[in-house]
Amino acid sequence: MALQDFYKGKAALITGASSGIGKDLAILWASWGCKVALAARRKELLEETAAECRSFGVDAIAVSADVADRAAMERIRDELLARWGFVDLIIGNAGVGGLNPGPIFDLDIHRRTVEINLIGLANTVVPFIPSMIERRSGVLVGVSSLAAFRGLPKAGSYSSTKAAQGRLMESLRVDLRQHGVHAMCIHPGFVETPMTDHDDFRMPFMVPVRKSSILISKAIARKKRVYLYPWPMKILTGINRMLPCWLYDRLVPKLSGQKSDIKPKML
Ligand SMILES: NC(=O)c1ccc[n+]([C@@H]2O[C@H](COP(=O)([O-])OP(=O)(O)OC[C@H]3O[C@@H](n4cnc5c(N)ncnc54)[C@H](OP(=O)(O)O)[C@@H]3O)[C@@H](O)[C@H]2O)c1
Repeated sequence: MALQDFYKGKAALITGASSGIGKDLAILWASWGCKVALAARRKELLEETAAECRSFGVDAIAVSADVADRAAMERIRDELLARWGFVDLIIGNAGVGGLNPGPIFDLDIHRRTVEINLIGLANTVVPFIPSMIERRSGVLVGVSSLAAFRGLPKAGSYSSTKAAQGRLMESLRVDLRQHGVHAMCIHPGFVETPMTDHDDFRMPFMVPVRKSSILISKAIARKKRVYLYPWPMKILTGINRMLPCWLYDRLVPKLSGQKSDIKPKML
């Protein structure tokens, strides 16, 4: 089956669709005949992208919400089930990056990162579980990061929430398997988006956003359980995971090329 055929006629909710990875996935899938609901906070940007998606002749709507707001995400679920009857693909992609150096660790930034990246992912996928169990169908996708696999320097908030996203999706995968629902987690390396538009640290093997969208689309169509990309970063991550702590602690801060004067911030 051609990749496009998997998406044709399906309906998808994509969070974080006002920019970067989520926006490009929405446009690509719409061009393949998939109905798309685009969620994020910046309504005007969502409307622009939804209009671009509709130009392919599919239904596309902008649904503005903060993923940390459980009631708002449940309202989106209600709206989409009323409009389409069923949503096949739920992509929990909304997220914030950030830096939070240990000596000046900012708990407010940490709390907000947890609310968006971790609670926000659960708020996105969980409301759709009952409808998916009823149909014995559907795919739940969490977009985590390769930063999930070790505590990266100056990234305690980001790495910890991305690791927790992976564990959340894994537990859901195990629990929902016998109900015909597939839960999976995507771990991108560096992708050219507004989130990586800075020079605070080295970002090797950066991939263009469209290449990222194709790789994600293939991973979903193939029902991967866990998917790491691009392959050079997957290999580096594998090596990184095997480093003993004494070596990791000395080597990785040097290799990261991080600036020394980094202040806590969300990206
Ligand atoms: N780019 C990379 O190199 C990379 C690498 C690994 C993982 N990732 C992950 O990929 C995902 C997408 O990142 P990106 O690179 O596409 O970044 P991006 O261009 O900055 O997009 C982030 C998206 O998340 C949305 N968002 C942020 N906070 C939100 C909130 N509270 N409620 C609803 N939506 C919210 C933003 O929309 P609004 O501001 O309009 O709400 C935006 O649409 C993130 O989870 C990120 O951690 C990215």
